[in-house]
Amino acid sequence: MIELAPSILSADFARLGEQVNRAAEGGGTLIHVDVMDGHFVPNITLGPQLVKSLRKATKLPLDCHLMIENPDLYIPAFADAGADWMSVHLEATRHLDRSLNLVKTHGCQAGVVINPATPVDMLSEVLDIVDYVLVMSVNPGFGAQPFLPHSLDKLRKLRNLREHKGLGYRIEVDGGISVDTVGRVVRAGGEILVAGNAVFSHGDPKINAQTLLKAALEATLQQV
Ligand code: DX5
Ligand code: ZN
Repeated sequence: MIELAPSILSADFARLGEQVNRAAEGGGTLIHVDVMDGHFVPNITLGPQLVKSLRKATKLPLDCHLMIENPDLYIPAFADAGADWMSVHLEATRHLDRSLNLVKTHGCQAGVVINPATPVDMLSEVLDIVDYVLVMSVNPGFGAQPFLPHSLDKLRKLRNLREHKGLGYRIEVDGGISVDTVGRVVRAGGEILVAGNAVFSHGDPKINAQTLLKAALEATLQQV
């Protein structure tokens, strides 16, 4: 099933509740929250306090993408603040299995994220414990970067592995998703589509979300 996860990174934070609700009216079903610490990635964004406010503004699940070092230190605070899904970067933790289990013990869906230069093969030992895999299709840290096409091979690989191993993780993609790239992403196996710039940087988030979802669903139909 295809889902759109609007990323608030490109939203107007002074009108966050309103913008998130517009994106939801346009078909967004998961709100993607980019947490950056200025160490793991060269940018700083937000913490649990904003997640707490967002929790009151929307009923949609909050998908917290932790681009932070030492994620284990902060997972409990994000869970308490109202995160529903939480993903940790393979590159940001020394003990990936521990971090993923910590997310689970806090009652959240657990995801693992890989950067553009990290191969899918590195995930072999955790694919059976994660609820989702997040493939970065840009180098994390900023919105509105161009889509990196080599991530399409990773999506295909993850889809094939899931089938061969009989696993149930979902495949999320993040970075550079637009009406121009979403067709290729969906056909390669992307299921949860994160989009910041395409939804929030211009016009009405509702219309933008609808347009993007329509393009994604059309690509799914072409696949059959
Ligand atoms: C980038 C973030 C993304 C970002 C995607 O580090 O993880 O979630 O919001 O933005 P767009 O859709 O603008 O590429
Ligand atoms: Zn993200």
